Amino acid sequence: MAWYENFFDEWYLKYWIQPLTQERAQREVDAIERYLGLKADSRVLDLCCGQGRHSLELARRGYKNVVGLDLSETLLQASQEKARQEGLAISFVQSDMRAISYDNEFDGIYNFYTAFGYFEKDEDNQMVLDVVGKALKPGGRFLLDYPSLEGRMGTWKTQEYFEYDDGTIMLHEMIHEVFEQKIVNKVLYITKDNVRHRTGFTLRHYYGRELTRCFEKAGMKVVGAFGTLKGDPLTNKDTRVLVVGEKM
Ligand SMILES: C[S@@+](CC[C@H](N)C(=O)[O-])C[C@H]1O[C@@H](n2cnc3c(N)ncnc32)[C@H](O)[C@@H]1O
Repeated sequence: MAWYENFFDEWYLKYWIQPLTQERAQREVDAIERYLGLKADSRVLDLCCGQGRHSLELARRGYKNVVGLDLSETLLQASQEKARQEGLAISFVQSDMRAISYDNEFDGIYNFYTAFGYFEKDEDNQMVLDVVGKALKPGGRFLLDYPSLEGRMGTWKTQEYFEYDDGTIMLHEMIHEVFEQKIVNKVLYITKDNVRHRTGFTLRHYYGRELTRCFEKAGMKVVGAFGTLKGDPLTNKDTRVLVVGEKM
């Protein structure tokens, strides 16, 4: 099984997402609305929606045409349950991100909080952009929120740990395979009852010029790359980059 079929499970839902506050999701959705130039009737795809933090917030803001797509059944169930509790109409779809077959349908698509570069083969990562390019209407926009390694290098950590309120500890080791442009992440959870859960993920890192070429191959031109949610230019201090593509 590939790592991404396992990692986004109950452990992820219970622990990994704890730093992701509602206030943060609201700031991110402000940025999504602005970067994608959304209008009230825009049709929007949350590609790799996870537990739905952005699609739920868009629906709360009155967007009626939001699709949230993800592979993880656990996370989709959490999204659906929250939408049901709040009476929000969102269409949730379970699919691999490479396998979508929408054609000229969406005004805006976004992929947030590092849900790109998951596949071992470059062709598979390219396929994600290809299906996004196909799914957008001409002039429609794609927003990719992605780590910027240049901003991380100065303070690069190889290990970190978190202690959660219930006494669980998470140890996270990050191995940077420089020439391969790969970050291998090993994660170990240890609960206070000494239950151990080993998991992890691997990211293929893309630098800006590479991403620009990949977007172009998918029929999108990069219209901007920003270092903050507010829209400041990207610098070598920024730890994330927001890349905006537009279907040509
Ligand atoms: C880091 S999370 C980001 C979730 C969400 N965008 C957010 O901001 O909270 C990555 C998401 O990608 C989903 N995912 C992983 N592999 C996938 C695949 N092959 N196809 C579709 N979704 C996938 C995971 O289930 C997870 O929800």
